Amino acid sequence: MRSLSGIQPSGALHLGNYFGAMKQHIELQDQCEGFYFIANYHALTTIQDADRLRQLTLDVALDYLAMGLDPQKVAFFRQSDVPEVCELSWILSTVTGKGLLERAHSFKDKVAKGLPVSMGLFSYPTLMAADILIYRSDIVPVGKDQVQHIEMTQDMAGYFNQTYREVFVRPEPRLNETAIVPGIDGQKMSKSYGNTIELFGEPKATRKKIMSMVTDSTPVEAPKDPDKCNVFALLKLLAPAEEVAEWDRRYRAGGMGYGAAKSRLAELYEATFGPRREARARWAARPDDVEDVLRQGARKARAIAQEVMEEVRSACGIVVGRS
Ligand code: ADP
Ligand code: TRP
Repeated sequence: MRSLSGIQPSGALHLGNYFGAMKQHIELQDQCEGFYFIANYHALTTIQDADRLRQLTLDVALDYLAMGLDPQKVAFFRQSDVPEVCELSWILSTVTGKGLLERAHSFKDKVAKGLPVSMGLFSYPTLMAADILIYRSDIVPVGKDQVQHIEMTQDMAGYFNQTYREVFVRPEPRLNETAIVPGIDGQKMSKSYGNTIELFGEPKATRKKIMSMVTDSTPVEAPKDPDKCNVFALLKLLAPAEEVAEWDRRYRAGGMGYGAAKSRLAELYEATFGPRREARARWAARPDDVEDVLRQGARKARAIAQEVMEEVRSACGIVVGRS
């Protein structure tokens, strides 16, 4: 079974990215043939500063390697090292109705806010479909907000297969138990809301951020509902099951202040990500090795992409004069 996913280098990775997507990618590396890439073409829809995009691309690579993605087990690469995805994206756009793309949440949200929409943002799901279909991916581990894009990919695979012949396999989204990770303000944690807890934030500043998490004003002595608390939602992700049960009990019993839960959360954060900081620094000190990893991953991925593209071109009658 082949698993594929991408993550945009559009800002520092955070707990939402980790528990929503990245953690599954790392866990699946022992069960599936993995393809994981840094979606730098997609990031151009928001990052339009060359130095920043280069830096963010490297940062995503370092974050994944530090968290334990093993380049011996999976192909880890940059989206742009397989330029065939842009070709496939074009071909898919010719069999896809404009109406399908108009239904994308990412597009509708921008329009609703009155923000300008580039053609790149509008056709974002087509490039994502190309990313998925070009490696004949069976499963796509992502967070809940990406499911619509994968359903669109299924539709686009169907349009192509019906128009020409059966070239593409139907990919399925793979969600983990973590639905939506809340940010420090209680909304969905997201780079665009400025409410994130970064995986490799500076320790003191991160502790401060955690201590400033928004909670309700229930007095210390009153019982509290853990299921309505964003601090508890993060504790659930970081603490062992028995400890979570104990916090659940303490919340409901009353007599516990949110400060105690936050303080423990800061400790758990440091215990989980602190030791990885060193691994990250070791990779950061060897940029040539990181580059080698990405190139080696790209070679493996591109070989498959080229084979699939030959089939695609042949199915639709595109003749290419180069060898
Ligand atoms: P952001 O919203 O910060 O820009 P992305 O859209 O780049 O994050 O998301 C990258 C991956 O991380 C996606 O698979 C997405 O589903 C997952 N993800 C992002 N934020 C969260 C969150 N708060 N909870 C769960 N998963 C998330
Ligand atoms: N759109 C995804 C996100 O913002 C990133 C992405 C690009 C992706 N191409 C993909 C995810 C292909 C899975 C498969 O998170």
